[in-house]
Amino acid sequence: MQNSIFDIEKQAFESIEKASDPDQLEKLSIKYLGRKGELTKFLRNISCLPVDERPGAGKNANILKGKLEKAFKTAFLKLEAINDKNFAGIDVTLPGRPVPRGSLHPITQVAKEISDIFLRLGFNIAESPEVETDYYNFEALNIPKYHPARDMQDTFYVSENIVLRTHTSPSQPRVMESCKPPVRIISPGKVFRCDSDITHTPMFYQIEGLMVDENISFGDLKGILTTFVHQFFDKDTSLRFRPSFFPFTEPSAEVDIRCVMCKGKGCRICSKTGWLEVLGSGMVHPAVFENVGYDTDKYTGFAFGIGIERMAMLKYGIDDIRKFYENDVRFLGQF
Ligand code: DAH
Repeated sequence: MQNSIFDIEKQAFESIEKASDPDQLEKLSIKYLGRKGELTKFLRNISCLPVDERPGAGKNANILKGKLEKAFKTAFLKLEAINDKNFAGIDVTLPGRPVPRGSLHPITQVAKEISDIFLRLGFNIAESPEVETDYYNFEALNIPKYHPARDMQDTFYVSENIVLRTHTSPSQPRVMESCKPPVRIISPGKVFRCDSDITHTPMFYQIEGLMVDENISFGDLKGILTTFVHQFFDKDTSLRFRPSFFPFTEPSAEVDIRCVMCKGKGCRICSKTGWLEVLGSGMVHPAVFENVGYDTDKYTGFAFGIGIERMAMLKYGIDDIRKFYENDVRFLGQF
């Protein structure tokens, strides 16, 4: 008896496949699902089966009933479409043209990955404009008009006092002007500089970070950045904090990690030093706090800036930054 349900299934699907007009389909539907149809008869006769076979047989028959109802419906629609004169000359049964699926740009993926790590550490995302005033891009960050630090960040001037921002650091004074401590933000986005070679593009991405509260120390900076590096690369990556200079932090530190390629032995990527510079950081300079009206006796904080392309290049072993912006899908599709 169990066998015959499979026979019914096989025959029914074969004849549905062959049916070439709606009348024929209608007849087939009656033949299998009608009051005296084969499947209906099968269901009715279940009571004649041995007791232990009944539940299984009933279940299978009902599943088949559902499948057949669906198959008839689809076959009717298909024949209707074929016979519709609006579709004359079009073979509606041909498979459609596939639309290739896209994916997120590797820079977007890495920016998201970095942001997610800081979001888990309790930071919030703050947006900041790409077209910026000279004041927020330089002055508020303790970089006066003729300071040599401006040379390293030569940029595109929209007018005398408006620039395409050279870094994401202007988000620091902007956020601090708009809220009181505690502050714990990151600010990702595009930045611009007059620069172009295998490690520089005129437009690139950074993520700024800022944490301000009472009693924030250099130890907090080290703890947060170490956690970040361990989560982004792996927990065995060692770091070193190297003294540096930025006008808006004091003291300032550049963070190096053990070369991810040679693990410190010395190679072309790390210029034989065994270390790779990955980000800039430091304790917020009191002059910056004064510019935004924060009490320098009460509050301290740290800031950092991460280059997103650089992180992506190190993580994936990419040697030319320009590949990110050539829009070659053979490259982009690998991520
Ligand atoms: N704005 C710096 C740059 O683009 C990077 C940086 C260094 C950001 C130190 C910081 C910091 O917040 O504390 O070169």
